[in-house]
Amino acid sequence: TKHYQVVGNPIAQSKSPFIHMAFAQQTQQHISYQRACPEVDGFLVEAQRFFASGGLGMNVTAPFKLDAYNFASQLTPRATLAGAVNTLAVQEEGSILGDNTDGYGLVTDITQQLGWPLRDKKLLVLGAGGAVRGVLQMLLEQRPAQLVLANRTLVKAEALASVFAPIGPVETVEFDALSGFAHGHFDLIINATSASLAGDLPPVPETLIAPATYCYDMTYGAQPTVFLRWVASLGVRVSADGLGMLVGQAAESFRLWHGVMPEVKPVMAALRQHLK
Ligand code: ATR
Repeated sequence: TKHYQVVGNPIAQSKSPFIHMAFAQQTQQHISYQRACPEVDGFLVEAQRFFASGGLGMNVTAPFKLDAYNFASQLTPRATLAGAVNTLAVQEEGSILGDNTDGYGLVTDITQQLGWPLRDKKLLVLGAGGAVRGVLQMLLEQRPAQLVLANRTLVKAEALASVFAPIGPVETVEFDALSGFAHGHFDLIINATSASLAGDLPPVPETLIAPATYCYDMTYGAQPTVFLRWVASLGVRVSADGLGMLVGQAAESFRLWHGVMPEVKPVMAALRQHLK
């Protein structure tokens, strides 16, 4: 049996054990996958303990993605750009690789599972925190016609725009300035603020939302998120929550560890059922 775990604080809510055990069953890997919840300053000690005891891979969630970034002995290019690590993997020679599979999870969910095109589309991303930093590279690599980043704190959006400038152009605005865009201007709006978690809406002017606007919320729950309920009330016909992103990032971690890409669809369906 090969040992894996997910580390976060809190961690009880994590669906990663469910997802990875389902992938393992599907691909006939013999694994254990535990949860660990160190104190907020306890990541390093936990990571050292886990890998010293023979652990082969770790998923990392809030608030430890930066600790994991610092812990890794090497980083993939996408983890370096994301400035955060959600996957640690023991390499053959014993060193520990840090990767970030969040952008892969989001973009494959949008383009492959949902089948929404990104190329030449106008995208609006709400938020400029760690969640956005983790996905901007993959979004820009799809070559959208425009990517606008709206954030409450403009300087944080501007900082991200300069980090990702070599990959593609990012326009930055405050929420107020969004009223300058025409009704239906954006093909896709992605909510990546943590507002949903608190049951709040990001202050997007409702004039922006047209029935043909695609909407994605990076959070998820048993019920539609406040953002998805709000856009539905404005007539939006096509929307999705972040459950597919969650399963997609897990699939890419699984591939990194086991060398085989599991099937996302059946696990998505099982997880949706499990959430109820
Ligand atoms: P995460 O890892 O989820 O991205 P984060 O790095 O703390 O967490 O970032 C949270 C994001 O949600 C930020 O963009 C934050 O805006 P600020 O940069 O201005 O703080 C945004 N956010 C949180 N609550 C919000 C709210 N009620 N309305 C609008 N934006 C909100």
